[in-house]
Amino acid sequence: MSADTKWFVHDRFGLFIHWGLYSLPARHEWVKHNEQIPDNIYDRYFKRFDPDLYEPTLWAKAAGNAGMKYFVITTKHHEGFCLWDSKLTNYKATQSPAGRDLLTPMVKAFRKEGLRTGFYHSLIDWHHPDFVIDRIHPQRSHPDREKLNKARVQARYAAYLHGQVRELLTQFGKVDILWFDFSYPGSDGKGRADWQSEKLVKLIRKLQPKVILDDRLDLPGVGDVKTPEQFQPRDWPMVDGKRVVWEACQTFSGSWGYHRDENSWRSTDELIRTLIDCVSKGGNLLLNVGPTGRGEFDERALARLTGIGEWMKRHSRSIYGCTQAPAEFQCPPDCRLTYNPEKKRLYLHILAWPYKHLFLDGKAFVDRVEYAQLLNDASEIKFGLDDWHAMQAGTDAKSSVVLNLPQTQPNVTVPVVELFLKD
Ligand code: GLC
Repeated sequence: MSADTKWFVHDRFGLFIHWGLYSLPARHEWVKHNEQIPDNIYDRYFKRFDPDLYEPTLWAKAAGNAGMKYFVITTKHHEGFCLWDSKLTNYKATQSPAGRDLLTPMVKAFRKEGLRTGFYHSLIDWHHPDFVIDRIHPQRSHPDREKLNKARVQARYAAYLHGQVRELLTQFGKVDILWFDFSYPGSDGKGRADWQSEKLVKLIRKLQPKVILDDRLDLPGVGDVKTPEQFQPRDWPMVDGKRVVWEACQTFSGSWGYHRDENSWRSTDELIRTLIDCVSKGGNLLLNVGPTGRGEFDERALARLTGIGEWMKRHSRSIYGCTQAPAEFQCPPDCRLTYNPEKKRLYLHILAWPYKHLFLDGKAFVDRVEYAQLLNDASEIKFGLDDWHAMQAGTDAKSSVVLNLPQTQPNVTVPVVELFLKD
């Protein structure tokens, strides 16, 4: 049975959360790989992981107020550390100074806020004793790598992986998304055979048939959502010539995990424009926060979530339930169109405010636009071109709907004109 993606393509906007021991070194979630840190040194973070300021209700509220409708949490990242009380390992939050299951209260808090639940789960595990050392493992340059690998049985790791997925799909109620990361087949890499991906998918479909599965199990054609990462698709992504359900996953800055000194933080304006752009191409946006080792969203993340929420408060109608506009509606320059097929409304996102007039060219607009209003305050936008301006414009006013815009841009990040279409 395939997944239920109806809610997903309606809700459009989610929060990714990368949280683990790597929040303590605070210099990227791949720090163990980047600095080839051996386990005995990396244990310094396990021994000090104590998120005493962790309050998942605050996280859930920040996400809900930003207009996010689902969240995806790293139950375990590549480092192997687990946020929940897994019976299959002691490398988990309950055994660290945190001393408690961090996942259950998080799921409860986000559900209470009305968000759906997504679990990111790393296929990779740089702590597990049976995970064979390969080209991206922190011990890839270890002089005794071959000897160490002789004691490792990848199939035993695969059984551990499947066992933990079983825990995640049986102990937390309805899981809406399962987000595996990632396969890197080829020489000295890992793919479907190392994860026993086919067997894993059978288990998942048995336990939670409707869960949305991502596309990173190295099983071509398996997966309910395509996941372009840190990249903005130019058009609606296609697989085998067909448009697919897709979700861009992106960070606020250059790191998924908390990174204290990384300063390439994107502006709130650009993040809002990215969300609009995703929906204008029929996709979702999963924006990431990396909480600190104290268990908080830092002020840089909170500022952006607040700013996005301010825009979403008055403009979410152009995001939820919307998708790419029908091809007959040509999008004007410096704009993005989204379309709500149920309400038969187009949403014109104006990225660069023009001087007084905005031309919607083409028969589709002329035949079908019945009424227009600014979404932020529902003030009418009259359209048409008087003779004087028609003469100036030199266009055949009959082939365009000309929106008469206020001379000054409304005080919102991206103004939106809601276009009501005749049936
Ligand atoms: C990449 C990164 C990983 C991150 C993931 C999120 O795979 O390596 O750290 O969790 O992207 O999509």
